[in-house]
Amino acid sequence: MRVGVFGVLGRMGQEVCRAVTAADDLELVAGVDFGDSREVARAAQVIVDFTHPDAVMDNIAWCLENDLHVVVGTTGFTADRLDQVRRWVAAKPQVGVVIAANYSIGAVLMMHFAKLAAPHFDSVEIVEAHHAGKVDAPSGTARQTAEIVAAARRRAGCEAMPDATTHAEPGARGADIAGVKVHSLRLAGLLASQEVHFTSVGEALVVRDDARDRSSFMPGVLAAVRWAPEHPGLSLGLETVLGL
Ligand SMILES: NC(=O)c1ccc[n+]([C@@H]2O[C@H](COP(=O)([O-])OP(=O)(O)OC[C@H]3O[C@@H](n4cnc5c(N)ncnc54)[C@H](O)[C@@H]3O)[C@@H](O)[C@H]2O)c1
Repeated sequence: MRVGVFGVLGRMGQEVCRAVTAADDLELVAGVDFGDSREVARAAQVIVDFTHPDAVMDNIAWCLENDLHVVVGTTGFTADRLDQVRRWVAAKPQVGVVIAANYSIGAVLMMHFAKLAAPHFDSVEIVEAHHAGKVDAPSGTARQTAEIVAAARRRAGCEAMPDATTHAEPGARGADIAGVKVHSLRLAGLLASQEVHFTSVGEALVVRDDARDRSSFMPGVLAAVRWAPEHPGLSLGLETVLGL
C-alpha cells in the first residue's frame, strides 16, 4: 500500500515515516510539510496527517476530493468539525477516513479496561503524569478516561464516591471531570503516563499505561492505515479500528 505523510517534518510525521519504511506491506511515496504542494501525494493510496489543527480540515477535504483514504492524528476536533467531516464523507462514500485523538494501543486499552472496571468499585481517581513542556492539564486522555468512567458508573446506577473532605488547599483534590478527580503531574524527562485507581473496601485495582516514546503510537497508526481502505466512511477512535 502506498502511503503519503502530511506533516512529514514534524515529530510524529518523522516517526510515521520510519514506521512505514520498516513495514514490508507499506511504501512511503510522498511527504508534505507546511508550504509544500500536496500534488506529490496523489501517488499515495492512504495519507497520514499529523499536522496542526489549523491545517487538518483543509487536508481532509483535499484527500476526499482526490479519493485518497486518510488517517488523521492531528488533534483539536470539535463536534462541529466532526459534523463537517461527516458531510464530506457522505459525498464520497468509497473513501475511508479514520480520526483518532490517541493512536497508542496501550492508552486505548487502558480506557477500555477502565470502562469495564468502573461499575464494580466504590471509588475511582485518575493520576496522569506528563513531560514539563505540556501546556494543558489535565491531558485529553485523562479527561476522556474520566468521562468514560463517569458514564459507565452512571449507567450502572453507582452511588456517589465516598469523600469526607471539607477543608482542602486549592488543587489538593485535583480537577473534577464529570465527577471523577484527576491529578496532573508535570515532570521533566517523562513523556506520558496514566494510572486509573479503583478501590473498594479490601481491594484495589490500578490500570496503568506508560508511553516511553513516540514510537508507541505507530502500531495503532499502521493498523489504521491498513484498516481505512477496507472500511469506507468515517471511523472515530482507535477503539473502532481495534474492534473494542
Ligand atoms: N493522535 C495521536 O495519537 C497523537 C499523538 C501525538 C501528537 N498528536 C497530534 O499530532 C499533531 C502533530 O504533532 P507533532 O508533535 O508531530 O507536531 P509538530 O509541530 O512536531 O509537527 C507538525 C508538522 O506539521 C507541519 N504542518 C503544519 N501545517 C501543515 C500543512 N498545512 N501541511 C503540511 N504540514 C503542515 C509543521 O510544519 C510540522 O512539521 C498535533 O495536533 C498533536 O496534538 C496526536
